Amino acid sequence: MRAVAFQQQGVLSLEEREKPRPGYKEILIETAAVGICGTDTHVFDGEFEGTIFPLVPGHEATGTIVELGEGVNDGVFDFHVGDKVAVNPSTTCGECEQCLNGHQNLCPKWNGLGVVASDGASQQFFTAPSTNVYKLRPETDIYEAALIEPLACAIRGWDVLPRRMGDHVLVYGAGTMGLLMAQLAHRAGAASVTIVDLNAERLKTAEECGIELRYTSADDADREKWDVVIDCTGNIRAIEDALTRVKPAGFFQDFGVAPADRTAQFSPFRIYRDEISIVGTMAVLNSFGRAVEMFEAGAINARAMISHSFTLDDYEQALEMFRRGDGRKLQIRPNDTESRVLL
Ligand SMILES: NC(=O)c1ccc[n+]([C@@H]2O[C@H](COP(=O)([O-])OP(=O)(O)OC[C@H]3O[C@@H](n4cnc5c(N)ncnc54)[C@H](O)[C@@H]3O)[C@@H](O)[C@H]2O)c1
Ligand SMILES: [Zn+2]
Ligand SMILES: [Zn+2]
Repeated sequence: MRAVAFQQQGVLSLEEREKPRPGYKEILIETAAVGICGTDTHVFDGEFEGTIFPLVPGHEATGTIVELGEGVNDGVFDFHVGDKVAVNPSTTCGECEQCLNGHQNLCPKWNGLGVVASDGASQQFFTAPSTNVYKLRPETDIYEAALIEPLACAIRGWDVLPRRMGDHVLVYGAGTMGLLMAQLAHRAGAASVTIVDLNAERLKTAEECGIELRYTSADDADREKWDVVIDCTGNIRAIEDALTRVKPAGFFQDFGVAPADRTAQFSPFRIYRDEISIVGTMAVLNSFGRAVEMFEAGAINARAMISHSFTLDDYEQALEMFRRGDGRKLQIRPNDTESRVLL
């Protein structure tokens, strides 16, 4: 079978490999789709803490079960060959203070398939621990379902935000994550949802996803302050601007990933005087199963969010296109023979 591997920082290759075998309580999956996101570029550029090369990238994956390892169905699971599945890429040690206190996403030994030390899904077949595998309905679109992993991150983001009827919500960034956070804001009871992106093309996608207020700068919006302001850019200027637009008693969420060595300026006086809460959110925590259910309930417009699919041969082009900020969500489809424009 064929696999893309990051050999070392900045070097990738397309390889012929042995098909993996599922170990004890592991499942072998034929890959349908795997989304590309900023994490893949950070891993490729050697900026992700702990990555061990060589590594097959790809953590936003769906596929079909082709083989069950020993012991998979000995407990509560009832997996079958042919089941369509989505895969939670996170694995944790289960032993550290964070794991034992219900903060597994903050485990110092956190390992994402395709991110740290275990191969991901940019290959024709991959294995995953059965506890990370989630069954999809037979009628679910297996390609669109690759958005379930980022949706699970967005649900975690909303888990640490208030969900009050009638809040006004402002989101910076209309990439995949901003679009998901904004669509969930409606579900969380927002009276209005505003989205800001410097890239006007991205605002068109936001319109298709039902986000009613869209601007290239928050200065153009019809209000000055919002109850909940969420940064989904990781851009320092956006974060500094966003913090000034939070209402008294409001919340700012740092969802985007800023470079580890950068700092942002804000007024500590305002945080005190206006009782502003600043909350972080990191990846997935007990939110993958809910993401499957919300995806299958139609909570997001997945069709509008995925613009291109690529074969393994075109992996590098996909990464370049992602870096340019062109298109919408880009996917690798390792068993396809043709790259496609979907929208
Ligand atoms: N916290 C988590 O669990 C988590 C999970 C996944 C991704 N992320 C992070 O979320 C962020 C967004 O991810 P994505 O996949 O949507 O990325 P993306 O690159 O597709 O989207 C980011 C968007 O922000 C816009 N932008 C950049 N600077 C801006 C500014 N100053 N003002 C307004 N808009 C601006 C860009 O035009 C782009 O459309 C990234 O930093 C990513 O690493 C966090
Ligand atoms: Zn991702
Ligand atoms: Zn741990």
